[in-house]
Amino acid sequence: MNPVKHVAIIMDGNGRWGIKHKKSRNFGHRAGLNTVERIIKSTIKNKINHLTLYAFSTENWKRPKKEIKFLLNLLDSFIDQKIHEFNKNNIKLKIIGNISIFHNKLKKKLKKSEQLTKKNNKLQVNLALNYGSKSELINSFKKINKNKQNINIKNIEKNLYTSTIPDPDILIRTGNTNRLSNFLLWQMAYSEIFFEKKLWPDFNENDYNVILKKFRKIKRNYGNI
Ligand code: IPE
Ligand code: IPE
Ligand code: MG
Repeated sequence: MNPVKHVAIIMDGNGRWGIKHKKSRNFGHRAGLNTVERIIKSTIKNKINHLTLYAFSTENWKRPKKEIKFLLNLLDSFIDQKIHEFNKNNIKLKIIGNISIFHNKLKKKLKKSEQLTKKNNKLQVNLALNYGSKSELINSFKKINKNKQNINIKNIEKNLYTSTIPDPDILIRTGNTNRLSNFLLWQMAYSEIFFEKKLWPDFNENDYNVILKKFRKIKRNYGNI
């Protein structure tokens, strides 16, 4: 039985879900938040310590301004509504990604939430915001170069957003699309990948448990036999 320390999720399919229900893409984004809550709860139930959620990529700025604004406002109000409950439930929030370009109010809110929950240790939720794996790696190489250090695995990992986070054991991507979309490329060198047909708002605890069960039985070779 493989232990599960870290599950990473590409929460894809919200927009299509909204359209499928004859509403807007943004309606789908809102619905996706219910799945976020459900999956956080079942991650705790399964005694998994790390959950990383891809919420906004460095490429998502290509979307229409209105959708970007909606997504950032949704994040803002989600934090307002849920951060105290997270804190009560011993959940630690960590942001990975470059949030320096977010407007001040949101940036402060995110920093404050990290601060508030930093001692919690039941579950760490790593929220990937303006996250892109390629720019994360470039930044790491630049820091190594600046400090005149050697390029090696240890130094590269030390300078990633995820320096204190174990590599994902499992990647789940919902939304019937089989690609990584610039997510944790380095960290997922040996992750078990599960592509799920369902759109994110339809993904439920049972689907999650099926994946966890399959994962537990996989023989992980890491190059060995
Ligand atoms: C959610 O799904 C991912 C985010 C960027 C928030 P999408 O918005 O990509 O939904 P689809 O893939 O267009 O259906
Ligand atoms: C990946 O989904 C990013 C997030 C889930 C935040 P996208 O919908 O942006 O990915 P592509 O563009 O289809 O590859
Ligand atoms: Mg998508």
